[in-house]
Amino acid sequence: MKKIHVNLSANSYNIYIDKDLLVKVGEMIAKGKEPCKTLLITDENIGKIYGEIVAENFRQNNFDVKLLALPPGEDQKNIENALLLYDHCFAHKLDRKSLIVALGGGVIGDLSGFIAATFMRGIPYIQIPTSLLAQVDSSIGGKVAVNHPKGKNMIGCFYQPTAVFIDTNTLSTLPSKEMVAGFVEVIKYGVIRDAELFAFLEKSMYDIFQLNHEALLKIIATSCQIKANVVEQDEKEKDLRAILNYGHTIGHAIETITNYKKYRHGEAVAIGMLYASKIAIELGLTDNTVFERQLSLIKNLGLSIQTGLKSESIIKALYTDKKTISGRLRFVLPTKIGEVIISDKVSDEILYRILDNPL
Ligand code: NAD
Ligand code: GLY
Repeated sequence: MKKIHVNLSANSYNIYIDKDLLVKVGEMIAKGKEPCKTLLITDENIGKIYGEIVAENFRQNNFDVKLLALPPGEDQKNIENALLLYDHCFAHKLDRKSLIVALGGGVIGDLSGFIAATFMRGIPYIQIPTSLLAQVDSSIGGKVAVNHPKGKNMIGCFYQPTAVFIDTNTLSTLPSKEMVAGFVEVIKYGVIRDAELFAFLEKSMYDIFQLNHEALLKIIATSCQIKANVVEQDEKEKDLRAILNYGHTIGHAIETITNYKKYRHGEAVAIGMLYASKIAIELGLTDNTVFERQLSLIKNLGLSIQTGLKSESIIKALYTDKKTISGRLRFVLPTKIGEVIISDKVSDEILYRILDNPL
């Protein structure tokens, strides 16, 4: 088992990564917490495979568990479901010492974390991420939110979990498109902070998609460690944490224009990373190999990279993103594999030039 400590003073916690954790998680939590009322939140896809396994493990350790499965999908991350979940918190008589457990992908993690952050002004919560994206990104770092019709993740806060339990076995049931979307976030970590991780992805893609345990352990633990280091230095995204948004500026614009229907988040981020690299080349910050190496990995994932979207609509969407500061766009740009800078010096002229050409 790998253990990564996220050092955030009073809000510190551990991330545990191993296979077969789902049948141990209740027991592990019981070592540090009195058994209590527990709301276990999942979605129906995940609930039917893993819900009872996890609930039973908690029950065996004397936790009073109520298991609740929402329909799957991004559109479930809304305030109406938050209200529904508060009703369940009241019905199950949760108090400030109770526990919320998020068993699922980023949708369930973000929504459950938001409930935990706001119910009675905050109660403890545990993340048990089951998608690769959630295991390497969304379950760590405490960004919790629901969507608003005016924008994704617009209603939320920073609220750290008490612990994160990553069971690599859960990836065996993850649909392959979701695995690909999560893999893109791992490429992101390689580009922003770790050339060795990037080279490992180039060499080991087959093993990773065959779910080789050692390969999974390596990419998940390395990604979690990178995210932990960044969050420790800048929990509330005043500056450094923005590097985690590499590929997300244009990626998010693409998702917005296509109403979150055409691209999975990771697919849009992959395109965003390629455009960010083109911008960096245009600005003389890096050379073409940085682009080519990412392109090759992304193509091997089978992702299509030409959007057919008009540069004008992408740029318009860029200016409505919450990542703009005082109306200026901020881009995370690679200088080499393993290193990025944050720049607000990308002119609209450059953007038009890059976005008007196919990748
Ligand atoms: P998701 O939660 O919708 O999961 C994707 C799909 O995979 C769902 O249909 C789900 O039911 C299914 N699934 C998940 N694990 C499974 C498993 N082990 N077996 C079978 N099916 C499984 O999406 P996601 O990609 O995990 O997360 C996306 C969400 O994460 C978005 O809402 C995004 O905003 C959020 N996010 C948050 C952060 C953060 O820092 N909080 C970071 C990145 C993304
Ligand atoms: N996924 C970006 C962040 O957590 O800051």
